[in-house]
Amino acid sequence: MTGTRSMQNLALIGFMGTGKSSVGRLVAQALDFTFVDTDQLIESRAGKAISDIFREEGEPAFREWECRIVEELAGCQKTVIATGGGLPVNPANLASLKSHALVVCLWASPEMIWQRVRGHTHRPLINEADPLARIRELLAVREPCYRQADVLINTEWRSLREVAHQVVCQFHLAQAAHR
Ligand code: S3P
Repeated sequence: MTGTRSMQNLALIGFMGTGKSSVGRLVAQALDFTFVDTDQLIESRAGKAISDIFREEGEPAFREWECRIVEELAGCQKTVIATGGGLPVNPANLASLKSHALVVCLWASPEMIWQRVRGHTHRPLINEADPLARIRELLAVREPCYRQADVLINTEWRSLREVAHQVVCQFHLAQAAHR
C-alpha cells in the first residue's frame, strides 16, 4: 500500500456477531488508543436502546444517527472505532471512515454468525421467524460494501485475541506504508 491516506485511527466494520466490539477493545488496549463503539455512542446520545430507536422511530432514524456519529468521529485521533453492522452500507459513511482510518472488515459465515448471536434479543434486524435466512439475505446484500474495506479478516475458528493480533499487525503495516 502506498499513497497519502491518513491512518491515525482504525475502524472495524462487518456484520453483527463478527466480534467488532470485543476485538476493538483488545486492539485499543494493544495500541494504547481510545475505544469507541458507534452503537454505544448512539444509545448514550439518544438516551435509549437501539431496539427502542428502531421500534419507536424506525430504521431510517437510526441510520441518520449513524451518519451524525460518523461525521463527529472524523475529528478523532488515536481511536479504534467499532461500527454497527449496517453503518458502512451508506457509501458516505465508508468514505468518511476511510478519510482518517484504516478500515478493517471482520468476516464470518452466516452459520457462524447465527451461532454467535442466537439468544441475543437486542438486535432488531434479526428478531425474525427465520433469523438464519435473514442473516444470509442481509450478508449477501452487504458483502460488496464490506469488501471495500482496506483489509478483510476471517474470524472463523480464531479466538478474539488472534483476530486482534492480526488487526494490530495490519495497522502497523498500513501505518508504515503511509508514513
Ligand atoms: C445493525 C447492527 C447492530 C446495530 C443495529 C443494526 C445492522 O450492530 O447497529 O442493530 O444493521 O447490522 P452490531 O453489528 O454491533 O450488532
